[in-house]
Amino acid sequence: MSRSPAITTDHSRICTYPTGLDPHRMPSHVAVIMDGNGRWAKARGLPRIMGHRAGVEALKTTLRLCSEWGIRTLTVYAFSTENWSRPGDEVNFLMTLFERVLQRELDSLQSEQVRISFLGDLEPLPNRLKELIAEARELTASNTGIRFNVCTNYGGRRELVLAAQKLARRSARGELDPELIDENIFADELFTGSEVDPDLLIRTSGERRISNFLLWQLAYAEIHVTDVLWPDFDAAALIQALADYQTRCRRFGGIDPITSDRLGS
Ligand code: IPE
Ligand code: IPE
Ligand code: MG
Repeated sequence: MSRSPAITTDHSRICTYPTGLDPHRMPSHVAVIMDGNGRWAKARGLPRIMGHRAGVEALKTTLRLCSEWGIRTLTVYAFSTENWSRPGDEVNFLMTLFERVLQRELDSLQSEQVRISFLGDLEPLPNRLKELIAEARELTASNTGIRFNVCTNYGGRRELVLAAQKLARRSARGELDPELIDENIFADELFTGSEVDPDLLIRTSGERRISNFLLWQLAYAEIHVTDVLWPDFDAAALIQALADYQTRCRRFGGIDPITSDRLGS
């Protein structure tokens, strides 16, 4: 891969960018719906679980590249509140895979200064996984590198309901005037807390839906859908997503100053 000269980002890491990407127009927060593991395996005559295993390698590559390219936050969808409806064997395999990968990768996450968090309703997860999640979060909490959010037993609707419940409880206790609830106060109660919203959402495997992911936070994200199946998602696919993002004109409901000037309005 050819690279442009090194530049320093605002979190003081020396980054090199692939040629063709504008270092000044990188998204700050990238979210990914990692989809297509089952189809990847099926196309090879393998059991679905082999697709999940291969998907871990794609995730490691994506995390490393996002970190190298100065992206501040990577949020990935690992397991949805709806994924419990899959066959028990597949769900058990996934839970065990999460445990194994977390245990195996913890040292390298730490040495790469990654700050890892798991977003979602973690209570129903197996105890060993919950312990590892707590350990990983504590160990990496003061790291200064990329924030890596792994959405596990995550559902956008569940997140909104839980936030509403928390606010209602505070109001019932007389701690919060309902009239004062605004978007910031509401957002603080989400799993993402004070995190900035994703700038770019990538969905692999060609599906054009958000499947209950970050319903609040994706309000103004740019969406890139690729037919690439998640285990095949590599540097070239990530560069393509970022290049696509850099072509977008983000108006946030306003008007594009360049186009409106051209029209003389
Ligand atoms: C995404 O791949 C991984 C999870 C949802 C855990 P899938 O398992 O959904 O793969 P497809 O969509 O069936 O190909
Ligand atoms: C979304 O993929 C969830 C994750 C990637 C974890 P799904 O495969 O569960 O979504 P649908 O069923 O195609 O909408
Ligand atoms: Mg799927």
